[in-house]
Amino acid sequence: IEDEWPGEPSESYWREQLNIAEDELRRGDWDSCEQRVAVEALAESARARWLLARSLDLAAEEKRDNRLLSRAISAYLHLLKMNERLSDKKLVEVAHRTIDRIQFRGIYLNAEPVYRLLIRRFPHNVDYRNNLTVSFLMANRADLADEVLKDTLRLWPNDRVALAHHGFVLKNHYNKLDEAVIYLKKALDGDAGAANEARFYYHLGDALLQLGRTDEAHEVHRRGAELGHFLSPHQRSLYNVPRLRSRPWWPVEETPYVKLATTLEKSWREILKEGEAARALYELEKEGLMERGEWSQLDLFVQGREVAGRCARAPATCAAVRAEPAARCRRGQVKFSAMRAGTHVRAHVGPTNCRLRLHLALSNTQGTYIRVHDEIRQWQVGKTFIFDDSFEHEVWHNGTGTRLVLIVDVWHPDLTAAERRQLPAI
Ligand code: LMR
Ligand code: MN
Repeated sequence: IEDEWPGEPSESYWREQLNIAEDELRRGDWDSCEQRVAVEALAESARARWLLARSLDLAAEEKRDNRLLSRAISAYLHLLKMNERLSDKKLVEVAHRTIDRIQFRGIYLNAEPVYRLLIRRFPHNVDYRNNLTVSFLMANRADLADEVLKDTLRLWPNDRVALAHHGFVLKNHYNKLDEAVIYLKKALDGDAGAANEARFYYHLGDALLQLGRTDEAHEVHRRGAELGHFLSPHQRSLYNVPRLRSRPWWPVEETPYVKLATTLEKSWREILKEGEAARALYELEKEGLMERGEWSQLDLFVQGREVAGRCARAPATCAAVRAEPAARCRRGQVKFSAMRAGTHVRAHVGPTNCRLRLHLALSNTQGTYIRVHDEIRQWQVGKTFIFDDSFEHEVWHNGTGTRLVLIVDVWHPDLTAAERRQLPAI
């Protein structure tokens, strides 16, 4: 029969043991089930291996125990060694659960052999190849992802999901922007198909902006917004709470952060001193947002938590920040940002609309400019301003010396207390 487990024992005693174990599993008696089936006499029984994996899996879930979960995954993988004797249906059932648990555990590379089994059994199903690609990308192995992608595109040259991922890899890992655009455009042609996702519109638009093909970029942003992928053509963050008020620049008086801004402005000289004294600790910006120049930052808080030891070096700064609970924003940072003269930060957007970004200007602001959406402003030493960095923004330092600012991300005022507690950190 198609759906039976292979290797059913011939002795009725052992078949009965398996039935009892099945019953124990149903009743939630994971321990007895596990002990009953983990015996040498049942080593060749797929049903025994399944019951072993299930009992460990369900126990791990109930006890939230990662050691049990790892044992469950090993047990599933052990069962999958019998893959050639498993029916299609059983193979799919076991493989899907194994992959699900591996992903939950966060060890994406371990899913590879399971996907390989599925690809071998179902060579005409492109989804398994694409899922393997995503698994490699999650594990930060764009090189391995690209090998799968090349293979997939050789067999399915028009598969939109593979085209889109290949475009993504070309852009973000190989910096081959022209080629990336070709693949992403093909993937999103006619705004239809399985690759019709916000992040691919985002990357296509971003690649076009970097290439200076601004008209084409705007067209992509317009389409992305029309499809509901972006809040608007100009506000292109991907992690959003949709109902929040959207405006590029926020007058401080129209936010609940007047006190924070005043406190910071009052202590700007001390904050400047702290920012300068820690210069040896600054790190170069690594997101590739600079077109030219040099830009470095010192994080004080990341995702609402102090970076260990930093506040000891910047006590006045941290005291001012700590006085405003909304500045412990899990979707942002508090940091010093130092920009050398001659720097141009190209047009880009932040990841989320859940924060507003307060700047306190500290030094060398002459000849520096920031554009947020369609309005350019300048910093003034000792003064704050607030903008929403989910809108497209761009920075120039055409002056002299190194411009220093303190950046304080605060929760968007429209978020409820529950949302501030519960939104996943970014
Ligand atoms: C940005 O958020 O990209 C910039 O405003 C940062 C900076 O240092 O000006
Ligand atoms: Mn930015």
